[in-house]
Amino acid sequence: MTLPPEAFAAALLPQGTLDELGPEFDRLGRRYSGKVRENFTAAGERTIVVTDRISAFDVVLGTIPFKGQVLNAVATHWFERTASLFPNHLLRVPDPQAVVAIECEPIPVELVVRGYLTGVSSTSIWRAYERGERVFCGHRLPEGLRKHERLPQALLTPSTKAKKGDHDESVSKDELFRRGLIAPALFEELEQRALQLFAFGQAEAAARGLILADTKYEIGRAPDGRIVLIDEIHTPDSSRYWYTQGYEAALSRSEDPRSLDKEFVRRWLVAQGFTGEGAPPPLPDALRIEAAQRYLEIAEVLLGRPLQPDLRPPLARLAANLGVG
Ligand SMILES: Nc1ncnc2c1ncn2[C@@H]1O[C@H](COP(=O)(O)OP(=O)(O)O)[C@@H](O)[C@H]1O
Ligand SMILES: [Mg+2]
Repeated sequence: MTLPPEAFAAALLPQGTLDELGPEFDRLGRRYSGKVRENFTAAGERTIVVTDRISAFDVVLGTIPFKGQVLNAVATHWFERTASLFPNHLLRVPDPQAVVAIECEPIPVELVVRGYLTGVSSTSIWRAYERGERVFCGHRLPEGLRKHERLPQALLTPSTKAKKGDHDESVSKDELFRRGLIAPALFEELEQRALQLFAFGQAEAAARGLILADTKYEIGRAPDGRIVLIDEIHTPDSSRYWYTQGYEAALSRSEDPRSLDKEFVRRWLVAQGFTGEGAPPPLPDALRIEAAQRYLEIAEVLLGRPLQPDLRPPLARLAANLGVG
Protein backbone atom coordinates (compact mmCIF):
# COMPACT_ATOMS: atom_id res chain seq x y z
CA MET A 1 0.00 0.00 0.00
CA THR A 2 1.69 3.22 -1.09
CA LEU A 3 0.07 6.28 0.40
CA PRO A 4 0.47 9.84 -0.83
CA PRO A 5 2.68 12.04 1.38
CA GLU A 6 -0.40 14.06 2.49
CA ALA A 7 -1.79 10.98 4.22
CA PHE A 8 1.27 10.85 6.44
CA ALA A 9 1.36 14.58 6.98
CA ALA A 10 -2.19 14.40 8.37
CA ALA A 11 -1.41 11.32 10.43
CA LEU A 12 1.62 12.97 12.01
CA LEU A 13 -0.51 15.71 13.54
CA PRO A 14 -1.43 14.98 17.14
CA GLN A 15 -5.13 14.58 16.37
CA GLY A 16 -4.37 12.22 13.51
CA THR A 17 -2.12 9.90 15.48
CA LEU A 18 -3.82 8.00 18.23
CA ASP A 19 -2.06 8.45 21.53
CA GLU A 20 -4.23 9.54 24.43
CA LEU A 21 -7.81 8.35 24.93
CA GLY A 22 -9.83 10.82 27.01
CA PRO A 23 -11.93 10.08 30.10
CA GLU A 24 -15.08 9.44 27.98
CA PHE A 25 -13.55 6.03 27.15
CA ASP A 26 -13.63 5.08 30.84
CA ARG A 27 -17.31 4.31 30.30
CA LEU A 28 -16.05 1.10 28.67
CA GLY A 29 -14.79 -0.20 32.01
CA ARG A 30 -11.86 -0.24 34.37
CA ARG A 31 -8.85 1.06 32.48
CA TYR A 32 -5.37 -0.42 32.24
CA SER A 33 -2.98 1.65 30.14
CA GLY A 34 -0.34 -0.64 28.73
CA LYS A 35 2.64 0.49 26.74
CA VAL A 36 0.83 0.01 23.44
CA ARG A 37 -2.79 -0.83 24.27
CA GLU A 38 -5.51 0.88 26.30
CA ASN A 39 -7.58 -1.82 27.98
CA PHE A 40 -11.06 -1.44 29.47
CA THR A 41 -12.63 -4.24 31.49
CA ALA A 42 -16.32 -4.61 32.32
CA ALA A 43 -18.69 -7.56 32.66
CA GLY A 44 -16.18 -10.25 31.70
CA GLU A 45 -15.17 -8.47 28.51
CA ARG A 46 -12.08 -6.46 27.70
CA THR A 47 -12.14 -3.74 25.08
CA ILE A 48 -8.61 -3.34 23.77
CA VAL A 49 -7.69 -0.24 21.78
CA VAL A 50 -4.44 -0.71 19.90
CA THR A 51 -2.88 2.76 19.86
CA ASP A 52 -0.17 3.99 17.49
CA ARG A 53 2.37 3.96 20.32
CA ILE A 54 5.61 2.14 19.66
CA SER A 55 7.69 0.61 22.42
CA ALA A 56 11.17 -0.82 22.24
CA PHE A 57 13.36 -2.03 25.10
CA ASP A 58 10.14 -1.82 27.20
CA VAL A 59 9.97 1.98 26.80
CA VAL A 60 7.33 3.96 24.88
CA LEU A 61 9.13 6.00 22.22
CA GLY A 62 6.30 7.86 20.52
CA THR A 63 3.75 7.04 17.83
CA ILE A 64 3.90 5.66 14.29
CA PRO A 65 1.00 6.59 11.98
CA PHE A 66 -1.40 3.68 11.27
CA LYS A 67 0.56 1.27 13.45
CA GLY A 68 -2.49 0.48 15.59
CA GLN A 69 -4.56 -0.44 12.55
CA VAL A 70 -1.78 -2.62 11.17
CA LEU A 71 -1.29 -4.47 14.43
CA ASN A 72 -4.98 -5.00 14.97
CA ALA A 73 -5.52 -6.30 11.44
CA VAL A 74 -2.55 -8.67 11.59
CA ALA A 75 -3.37 -10.04 15.06
CA THR A 76 -7.02 -10.57 14.12
CA HIS A 77 -5.97 -12.34 10.91
CA TRP A 78 -3.75 -14.80 12.79
CA PHE A 79 -6.16 -15.29 15.68
CA GLU A 80 -8.81 -16.35 13.17
CA ARG A 81 -6.42 -18.70 11.39
CA THR A 82 -4.98 -20.35 14.49
CA ALA A 83 -8.17 -20.78 16.52
CA SER A 84 -8.29 -24.53 15.84
CA LEU A 85 -4.66 -24.94 16.98
CA PHE A 86 -5.03 -22.82 20.09
CA PRO A 87 -8.22 -21.06 21.25
CA ASN A 88 -7.92 -17.31 21.78
CA HIS A 89 -9.63 -14.40 23.50
CA LEU A 90 -11.11 -12.71 20.40
CA LEU A 91 -14.86 -11.97 20.45
CA ARG A 92 -15.39 -9.16 17.91
CA VAL A 93 -13.69 -6.31 16.05
CA PRO A 94 -15.76 -3.12 16.40
CA ASP A 95 -13.13 -0.74 14.94
CA PRO A 96 -9.96 -1.02 12.80
CA GLN A 97 -8.03 -0.24 15.99
CA ALA A 98 -9.96 -2.16 18.62
CA VAL A 99 -11.15 -5.62 19.61
CA VAL A 100 -13.48 -6.90 22.28
CA ALA A 101 -12.03 -9.99 23.95
CA ILE A 102 -12.75 -12.38 26.79
CA GLU A 103 -11.35 -10.96 30.03
CA CYS A 104 -8.87 -13.57 31.26
CA GLU A 105 -6.73 -14.16 34.30
CA PRO A 106 -3.26 -13.62 32.81
CA ILE A 107 -0.68 -16.36 33.41
CA PRO A 108 2.46 -14.47 34.48
CA VAL A 109 4.74 -16.23 32.00
CA GLU A 110 5.43 -15.10 28.44
CA LEU A 111 6.00 -17.91 25.99
CA VAL A 112 8.92 -16.69 23.89
CA VAL A 113 9.75 -19.01 21.00
CA ARG A 114 13.05 -18.55 19.18
CA GLY A 115 13.98 -20.17 15.89
CA TYR A 116 17.16 -18.16 15.26
CA LEU A 117 20.20 -16.97 17.20
CA THR A 118 19.48 -13.26 17.08
CA GLY A 119 18.42 -10.14 18.97
CA VAL A 120 19.89 -6.79 19.89
CA SER A 121 18.97 -6.24 23.54
CA SER A 122 21.22 -7.38 26.37
CA THR A 123 18.69 -10.10 27.29
CA SER A 124 18.59 -11.62 23.78
CA ILE A 125 19.83 -15.11 23.02
CA TRP A 126 22.45 -13.68 20.64
CA ARG A 127 23.97 -11.38 23.28
CA ALA A 128 24.16 -14.31 25.73
CA TYR A 129 25.82 -16.50 23.09
CA GLU A 130 28.24 -13.71 22.18
CA ARG A 131 29.22 -13.48 25.87
CA GLY A 132 30.13 -17.17 25.71
CA GLU A 133 27.04 -18.58 27.42
CA ARG A 134 26.09 -21.99 26.03
CA VAL A 135 23.00 -22.62 28.13
CA PHE A 136 20.05 -20.29 27.55
CA CYS A 137 16.90 -20.68 29.68
CA GLY A 138 17.95 -24.25 30.39
CA HIS A 139 18.60 -25.13 26.71
CA ARG A 140 22.11 -26.24 25.68
CA LEU A 141 23.38 -24.40 22.59
CA PRO A 142 25.98 -25.91 20.22
CA GLU A 143 29.35 -24.27 19.53
CA GLY A 144 30.09 -22.47 16.28
CA LEU A 145 26.75 -20.79 15.56
CA ARG A 146 26.83 -17.47 13.74
CA LYS A 147 24.74 -14.40 14.53
CA HIS A 148 21.26 -14.72 12.95
CA GLU A 149 21.78 -18.44 12.22
CA ARG A 150 18.90 -20.86 12.46
CA LEU A 151 18.91 -22.81 15.74
CA PRO A 152 19.00 -26.63 15.45
CA GLN A 153 15.41 -26.55 16.72
CA ALA A 154 13.00 -23.88 17.87
CA LEU A 155 13.28 -23.24 21.62
CA LEU A 156 10.73 -22.05 24.13
CA THR A 157 12.59 -19.56 26.33
CA PRO A 158 10.01 -18.34 28.84
CA SER A 159 10.19 -14.94 30.43
CA THR A 160 8.47 -13.51 33.45
CA LYS A 161 6.07 -10.68 32.73
CA ALA A 162 7.61 -7.60 34.33
CA LYS A 163 5.61 -4.86 36.01
CA LYS A 164 5.29 -1.64 34.02
CA GLY A 165 8.68 0.03 33.61
CA ASP A 166 10.68 -3.10 34.43
CA HIS A 167 12.27 -5.40 31.90
CA ASP A 168 10.98 -8.91 31.30
CA GLU A 169 13.39 -11.56 32.52
CA SER A 170 14.27 -14.73 30.60
CA VAL A 171 14.35 -17.76 32.88
CA SER A 172 14.54 -21.53 32.70
CA LYS A 173 11.41 -23.58 33.28
CA ASP A 174 12.89 -24.87 36.54
CA GLU A 175 13.16 -21.28 37.74
CA LEU A 176 9.49 -20.71 36.83
CA PHE A 177 8.53 -23.75 38.90
CA ARG A 178 10.74 -22.66 41.82
CA ARG A 179 8.97 -19.30 41.84
CA GLY A 180 5.60 -21.02 41.67
CA LEU A 181 4.59 -19.06 38.55
CA ILE A 182 3.18 -22.04 36.65
CA ALA A 183 2.57 -25.73 37.31
CA PRO A 184 4.98 -28.11 35.51
CA ALA A 185 2.21 -30.09 33.79
CA LEU A 186 0.61 -26.94 32.39
CA PHE A 187 3.98 -25.63 31.28
CA GLU A 188 4.87 -28.82 29.38
CA GLU A 189 1.51 -28.74 27.61
CA LEU A 190 1.86 -25.06 26.70
CA GLU A 191 5.40 -25.62 25.48
CA GLN A 192 4.22 -28.22 22.96
CA ARG A 193 1.35 -26.06 21.81
CA ALA A 194 3.45 -22.89 21.53
CA LEU A 195 5.97 -24.79 19.40
CA GLN A 196 3.12 -26.02 17.16
CA LEU A 197 1.80 -22.48 16.75
CA PHE A 198 5.28 -21.26 15.95
CA ALA A 199 5.76 -24.00 13.33
CA PHE A 200 2.45 -22.92 11.78
CA GLY A 201 3.55 -19.27 11.82
CA GLN A 202 6.89 -20.17 10.24
CA ALA A 203 5.21 -22.15 7.45
CA GLU A 204 2.76 -19.31 6.76
CA ALA A 205 5.63 -16.81 6.76
CA ALA A 206 7.68 -19.00 4.40
CA ALA A 207 4.77 -19.12 1.96
CA ARG A 208 4.98 -15.31 1.86
CA GLY A 209 8.76 -15.14 1.39
CA LEU A 210 9.41 -14.40 5.04
CA ILE A 211 11.21 -16.00 7.95
CA LEU A 212 9.49 -15.87 11.32
CA ALA A 213 12.64 -15.73 13.45
CA ASP A 214 11.02 -15.50 16.87
CA THR A 215 7.82 -14.53 18.62
CA LYS A 216 6.12 -14.18 21.99
CA TYR A 217 2.75 -15.52 23.12
CA GLU A 218 0.76 -14.46 26.16
CA ILE A 219 -1.82 -16.77 27.65
CA GLY A 220 -4.59 -16.45 30.16
CA ARG A 221 -7.30 -18.46 31.84
CA ALA A 222 -10.83 -17.73 30.64
CA PRO A 223 -13.71 -17.68 33.17
CA ASP A 224 -14.75 -21.18 31.99
CA GLY A 225 -11.27 -22.48 32.90
CA ARG A 226 -9.92 -22.82 29.35
CA ILE A 227 -6.37 -21.67 28.63
CA VAL A 228 -6.50 -19.20 25.73
CA LEU A 229 -4.12 -16.97 23.81
CA ILE A 230 -4.49 -13.30 24.76
CA ASP A 231 -2.92 -10.02 23.67
CA GLU A 232 -1.68 -10.41 20.06
CA ILE A 233 -0.20 -13.07 17.80
CA HIS A 234 2.46 -13.09 15.06
CA THR A 235 2.36 -9.30 14.71
CA PRO A 236 5.43 -7.27 13.77
CA ASP A 237 5.48 -6.09 17.41
CA SER A 238 5.52 -9.50 19.03
CA SER A 239 7.57 -11.20 16.32
CA ARG A 240 10.73 -10.77 14.33
CA TYR A 241 10.24 -11.25 10.59
CA TRP A 242 12.98 -11.30 7.94
CA TYR A 243 12.79 -11.54 4.17
CA THR A 244 13.88 -14.98 2.99
CA GLN A 245 15.46 -13.40 -0.06
CA GLY A 246 18.90 -12.13 0.88
CA TYR A 247 18.95 -13.92 4.25
CA GLU A 248 21.71 -16.41 3.33
CA ALA A 249 23.81 -13.66 1.73
CA ALA A 250 23.44 -11.45 4.83
CA LEU A 251 24.40 -14.37 7.08
CA SER A 252 27.55 -15.14 5.08
CA ARG A 253 28.56 -11.46 5.03
CA SER A 254 27.86 -11.10 8.79
CA GLU A 255 25.23 -8.47 8.05
CA ASP A 256 21.78 -8.04 9.54
CA PRO A 257 19.02 -9.67 7.47
CA ARG A 258 16.46 -7.24 6.04
CA SER A 259 13.67 -7.18 8.57
CA LEU A 260 9.97 -6.38 8.45
CA ASP A 261 9.36 -5.34 12.00
CA LYS A 262 10.39 -2.76 14.56
CA GLU A 263 13.99 -3.97 14.40
CA PHE A 264 14.34 -0.98 12.05
CA VAL A 265 13.46 1.40 14.89
CA ARG A 266 15.49 -0.59 17.43
CA ARG A 267 18.60 -0.34 15.25
CA TRP A 268 18.12 3.39 14.83
CA LEU A 269 17.90 3.72 18.63
CA VAL A 270 21.02 1.63 19.16
CA ALA A 271 22.83 3.80 16.59
CA GLN A 272 21.82 6.83 18.72
CA GLY A 273 23.35 5.09 21.74
CA PHE A 274 20.01 4.13 23.35
CA THR A 275 19.58 0.58 24.61
CA GLY A 276 16.81 1.03 27.14
CA GLU A 277 18.36 3.13 29.90
CA GLY A 278 17.35 6.74 30.49
CA ALA A 279 15.12 8.84 28.25
CA PRO A 280 14.78 7.70 24.63
CA PRO A 281 15.68 10.15 21.84
CA PRO A 282 12.62 11.73 20.13
CA LEU A 283 11.68 9.96 16.89
CA PRO A 284 12.20 12.26 13.88
CA ASP A 285 9.17 12.51 11.55
CA ALA A 286 11.16 11.05 8.66
CA LEU A 287 11.79 7.93 10.75
CA ARG A 288 8.12 7.75 11.78
CA ILE A 289 7.02 7.90 8.14
CA GLU A 290 9.56 5.29 7.11
CA ALA A 291 8.37 3.06 9.97
CA ALA A 292 4.72 3.63 8.95
CA GLN A 293 5.51 2.58 5.38
CA ARG A 294 7.19 -0.54 6.72
CA TYR A 295 4.22 -1.41 8.93
CA LEU A 296 1.86 -1.04 5.96
CA GLU A 297 4.22 -3.14 3.86
CA ILE A 298 4.30 -5.98 6.36
CA ALA A 299 0.51 -5.83 6.67
CA GLU A 300 0.22 -6.29 2.93
CA VAL A 301 2.64 -9.22 2.91
CA LEU A 302 1.09 -10.95 5.92
CA LEU A 303 -2.54 -10.35 5.02
CA GLY A 304 -1.99 -11.12 1.34
CA ARG A 305 -3.77 -7.90 0.36
CA PRO A 306 -3.07 -4.18 0.75
CA LEU A 307 -4.28 -2.68 4.01
CA GLN A 308 -6.14 0.49 3.14
CA PRO A 309 -5.82 2.44 6.37
CA ASP A 310 -8.88 4.25 7.64
CA LEU A 311 -7.90 7.93 7.35
CA ARG A 312 -10.70 9.35 9.49
CA PRO A 313 -9.60 11.07 12.73
CA PRO A 314 -9.12 8.03 14.99
CA LEU A 315 -10.44 9.37 18.28
CA ALA A 316 -13.84 10.37 16.89
CA ARG A 317 -14.10 7.16 14.88
CA LEU A 318 -13.25 5.00 17.91
CA ALA A 319 -15.66 6.88 20.15
CA ALA A 320 -18.45 6.29 17.62
CA ASN A 321 -17.60 2.62 16.98
CA LEU A 322 -17.23 1.84 20.68
CA GLY A 323 -20.39 3.73 21.59
CA VAL A 324 -18.87 6.36 23.87
CA GLY A 325 -19.35 9.32 21.51
N1 LIG B 1 -7.90 -11.09 27.11
C1 LIG B 1 -7.10 -10.56 28.03
N2 LIG B 1 -7.35 -10.70 29.34
C2 LIG B 1 -6.54 -10.14 30.28
N3 LIG B 1 -5.44 -9.43 29.99
C3 LIG B 1 -5.12 -9.24 28.69
C4 LIG B 1 -5.93 -9.79 27.66
N4 LIG B 1 -5.37 -9.45 26.46
C5 LIG B 1 -4.29 -8.71 26.74
N5 LIG B 1 -4.13 -8.59 28.08
C6 LIG B 1 -3.08 -7.80 28.77
O1 LIG B 1 -3.35 -6.43 28.44
C7 LIG B 1 -2.16 -5.72 28.23
C8 LIG B 1 -2.14 -5.18 26.79
O2 LIG B 1 -1.56 -3.92 26.73
P1 LIG B 1 -0.02 -3.70 26.40
O3 LIG B 1 0.08 -2.33 25.87
O4 LIG B 1 0.53 -4.83 25.62
O5 LIG B 1 0.54 -3.73 27.88
P2 LIG B 1 1.97 -4.01 28.50
O6 LIG B 1 2.65 -2.69 28.57
O7 LIG B 1 1.61 -4.55 29.86
O8 LIG B 1 2.66 -5.02 27.61
C9 LIG B 1 -1.03 -6.70 28.48
O9 LIG B 1 -0.59 -6.53 29.83
C10 LIG B 1 -1.68 -8.06 28.30
O10 LIG B 1 -1.08 -9.06 29.06
MG1 LIG C 1 2.40 -5.90 25.70
